[in-house]
Amino acid sequence: MSGKLAASTGADGLRSINILTQSPMAATSPAPALTSVLFVCLGNICRSPLAEGVFRHLVEEAGLSDQFEIDSAGTGSWHVGERPDARSILVAEQHGVGLDSRGRQVRSADFADFDYIIAMDRDNLHTLERMRDGEGSHALIQLLRSYEDKPDSDEVPDPYYGGASGFENVYKMVRRSCKGLLHRLRAE
Ligand code: 4NP
Repeated sequence: MSGKLAASTGADGLRSINILTQSPMAATSPAPALTSVLFVCLGNICRSPLAEGVFRHLVEEAGLSDQFEIDSAGTGSWHVGERPDARSILVAEQHGVGLDSRGRQVRSADFADFDYIIAMDRDNLHTLERMRDGEGSHALIQLLRSYEDKPDSDEVPDPYYGGASGFENVYKMVRRSCKGLLHRLRAE
């Protein structure tokens, strides 16, 4: 046990030594409150890993890593355990962002564990709303592009069956939206 020793004399005249377990720092520097954000798409290999990586990058640039818990997941289970799609990894790399997630499926505990669950499209949003089951599930479920300034659509389109230009387009809208999301969360 770490602590500080403090000697005192009791009413019986005997000296006793107490160990003060709380450090002076603990009283003056409380840990910052954590905000937890889960990005969700269908497969968790294209869009949501990109959103997770871009948002983490922006948070790191802002020096706020100790204030955020960031993750991503899919409503489907086809790609559990897999690295992100090579085209997402490539477009992220081209913009200086590393992606290191592994595919996982949304689980019921996510609705209690996360403050924000951010969906890429309306299908994901409706699936999440159906999955949520009452008790303790306080997460706000929202569309990522609701944080973009003047978006041309409220959805991040699924680029899985398209070409590389679709991934660049997705990267750009994800970045604009993640900047808006971070701006909003910092203001809270
Ligand atoms: P994502 O894209 O939802 O952005 O990860 C998809 C990836 C895989 C599939 C669908 C969408 N899939 O059907 O396997």
